[in-house]
Amino acid sequence: MRSIEVRSLVKRYRSVTALDGVSLEVAPGEIYGLVGHNGAGKTTLMRILTGLIAPTSGTAAVRGTVGSLIESPAFYPSMSGLVNLQVLCDYWGLPQIEAGRALEVVGLSGRDQKRAFRQYSLGMKQRLGVAAALLGQPPIVVLDEPTNGLDPQSVVDMRRVLRDLRAAGCAVLLSSHLLAEVEQVADRVGVLAKGRLVAEGTVGDLRARGGAVVEVGVNDVDAAVAVARRLKLVAEPGERALRVRLGRVPAHELNAALVAAGVEVALLRPVTESLEDAFLDIMTDGGKAA
Ligand SMILES: Nc1ncnc2c1ncn2[C@@H]1O[C@H](COP(=O)(O)OP(=O)(O)OP(=O)(O)O)[C@@H](O)[C@H]1O
Ligand SMILES: [Mg+2]
Repeated sequence: MRSIEVRSLVKRYRSVTALDGVSLEVAPGEIYGLVGHNGAGKTTLMRILTGLIAPTSGTAAVRGTVGSLIESPAFYPSMSGLVNLQVLCDYWGLPQIEAGRALEVVGLSGRDQKRAFRQYSLGMKQRLGVAAALLGQPPIVVLDEPTNGLDPQSVVDMRRVLRDLRAAGCAVLLSSHLLAEVEQVADRVGVLAKGRLVAEGTVGDLRARGGAVVEVGVNDVDAAVAVARRLKLVAEPGERALRVRLGRVPAHELNAALVAAGVEVALLRPVTESLEDAFLDIMTDGGKAA
């Protein structure tokens, strides 16, 4: 039983295909991180999930109430954060006590709760937006770039909030262009590029898919790059070495090919790369890795 089920979702605007056949699922107690560059379609997908816009084709099913933070939510500037949330509680038929609870969860202090919204910093606005998404403790939470504008400590706090939601059985879908952040908190990650889900899996899966990268110290970088390209490997030349993404080719095969071509190999060692680098490679691959 999935909380969120998206099937072959397409959203076309006049000249832009914002979503081009996206399918994904989020289970209760799972954090799914949607990662992509600007314009990849993250917000569009979330807008469809919350019913703000309709898809051109495909389906987006949600099982339960969805609490969401999408782009900058509108709050009354002269009212405090607390009163703003109490107004939302009234509107949604929730007890007002929910407002204080949600603010507590996101760590907006008692004093800040009572300040006028227009005096809020970007980070405080963001926390208030997340608190609004959590009113009534919905089983599904959709957060579009929840760490936008947060300082490093607040980012850590937000991760704890997300993990608590997961522990409570909530299905959480969040987006970010900060890949390193998603890597730390998401159970599964989907990479969205130009409206297509080009890669999906656990953080470990995606790492493996990118393939190991090795640094190869050689006497002739140009010749070595040519050998790597003959093996259809992506090679990045350096001064006296090159970096090669091995993909399906084992390191000893690359070594043998280099030696056979008369290249002297002085060193061959694995390079640990961040998931961010792996993602970017997958994305620049134009979706071939999917
Ligand atoms: N109302 C609209 N009319 C026309 N095009 C739109 C509209 N909304 C979004 N788009 C286009 O759809 C594409 C996806 O936009 P979307 O906002 O979903 O991307 P995003 O991944 O959220 O990007 P960002 O990281 O910048 O927030 C973009 O090319 C955008 O210009
Ligand atoms: Mg967006």
